Amino acid sequence: MNSPFPSESPLIGIGFRVPIAKWTLANLHRFDVLEITVDHYIKGGEYVRRAIRNLVDRVPLVLHGVGLSIGTDAPLDEAYLDAVAEAVDDLKVPSYSEHLAWTKVPGIDLANLLPVPKTRAAADMLIPKIERIQARLPVPFSIENISYVFDFPDAEMSDAEFFNLLFRETGVEMLLDVENLFVNASNHAVDPLAFLEQLPEGVVTGVHAAGGPLVRRPYLDVPFHADNHSHPVPQQALDLLEYALDRQRPRTVILERDNDYEQGEELLADVTRIRRQAARAASSTEGSVTDVPAY
Ligand SMILES: [Fe+2]
Repeated sequence: MNSPFPSESPLIGIGFRVPIAKWTLANLHRFDVLEITVDHYIKGGEYVRRAIRNLVDRVPLVLHGVGLSIGTDAPLDEAYLDAVAEAVDDLKVPSYSEHLAWTKVPGIDLANLLPVPKTRAAADMLIPKIERIQARLPVPFSIENISYVFDFPDAEMSDAEFFNLLFRETGVEMLLDVENLFVNASNHAVDPLAFLEQLPEGVVTGVHAAGGPLVRRPYLDVPFHADNHSHPVPQQALDLLEYALDRQRPRTVILERDNDYEQGEELLADVTRIRRQAARAASSTEGSVTDVPAY
């Protein structure tokens, strides 16, 4: 199959993190785009806010969040949404993304991305919230697939069917995390190619890539892929990126790194690997990946 988007390449960059702000500025010419975590902007204090604001007009920015907890069965936090809207305005970003997850129960922040049950009832809870976010913000909203340690047993739909229901009923876009897809494929025997093939063409407007360790413990029957953003992006995740680019045209591909920041060369090498893989997808006349490994 020929790619419907053969000539357009995504902007490639990294998530901006204050501990490596100086290093990021010194290497700014290597990135087409930076992703700002809105929670850093909202809660980071004036020093952090100024460091982030200083990036405006120097490099394209996109906005990503971790604190909305859209999957919590409670009303949206309108004050948080107001703060996101302020950040969208301050930072002149063209998009905002969040995880399809819950991180809180009323009064308690669980500090973990937890999966939403894939049921019609959960969709009915999510859809008005997505519509409210879309109405409140002047930029497109996208939802990200998370990696999950457990899944609810009463699913009425597959991952792709659940996302597709939300896409269909709200027009929300997708932030595709290829590392999360790889990790879930490995940990839960989900077919990542089937997931990608079921997504509507063009729904993916952003991509995340990251890496984590393979955890071996005596109490685990099989090793477990942890998604802690501390390692180089696994080649399997990059292969999934290339596969996805056959039918999707993301505007950005962002490398996420949240640990082991001292490995600056590793970050730059990953950015180069992402560029190479995206270029390979763009130049592929067949538009198909022949060496995606088994999971
Ligand atoms: Fe991500």
